[in-house]
Amino acid sequence: MKFFVDTADIAEIRDLAATGLLDGVTTNPSLVMKAGKPFIPLIEEICSIVSGPVSAEVAATDFDTMMKEGLKLAKIAPNVAVKVPLTPAGLKVCKTLSDQGTMVNVTLCFSAAQALLAAKAGASFISPFVGRLDDIGTDGLALIAEIMQIYESYADFETEVLVASVRHPMHIVEAAKMGAHVATCPPNVIRQLYNHPLTDKGLAAFIEDWKKTGQTIL
Ligand code: G3P
Repeated sequence: MKFFVDTADIAEIRDLAATGLLDGVTTNPSLVMKAGKPFIPLIEEICSIVSGPVSAEVAATDFDTMMKEGLKLAKIAPNVAVKVPLTPAGLKVCKTLSDQGTMVNVTLCFSAAQALLAAKAGASFISPFVGRLDDIGTDGLALIAEIMQIYESYADFETEVLVASVRHPMHIVEAAKMGAHVATCPPNVIRQLYNHPLTDKGLAAFIEDWKKTGQTIL
């Protein structure tokens, strides 16, 4: 499973990229607003830090303007994935840009029917929002299972399932068990993946016992 970080915070991206475990970055207008920096140079900088896909979202909702924005975003760097909303116009942009060889991430997916359309439109990534579905009392992970079942039934679908709106490590683990291709996670959730109290306890005991041996390795 690939790990993307869902942030536009440069310091966080640099920090996670240094682990060697970061495969890409996703941003959205809310995250860009939070970062408080000009959008185009921000995406440029992220693309210089991470070689994997960097999602940059269009702001318009009509086909013509989304196309112009998408083409401009795609020119920033070869690893830009243009992010479009799951609307009829967004999927038309997806089809057009995908046919031209540009990576497209279709966002705001909340149903299997929508994911089916995105695959037919040639999306590189479909972003189902598991956390937001959980938030309204439904089962976000059940949607991932449904999409995986559909995508695995058609060998010609090349769209990767990018699990989005991730809230905690179990979202990632359960999605990985289903074979979901990517999880995009807030930085704190990626860091939570490392944690287990028995690891901390075990390490503390090993450190203490090693001291008692009076030895050094180097
Ligand atoms: O970037 C898309 C998605 O991951 C947003 O998540 O936490 O705003 O529901 P969230």
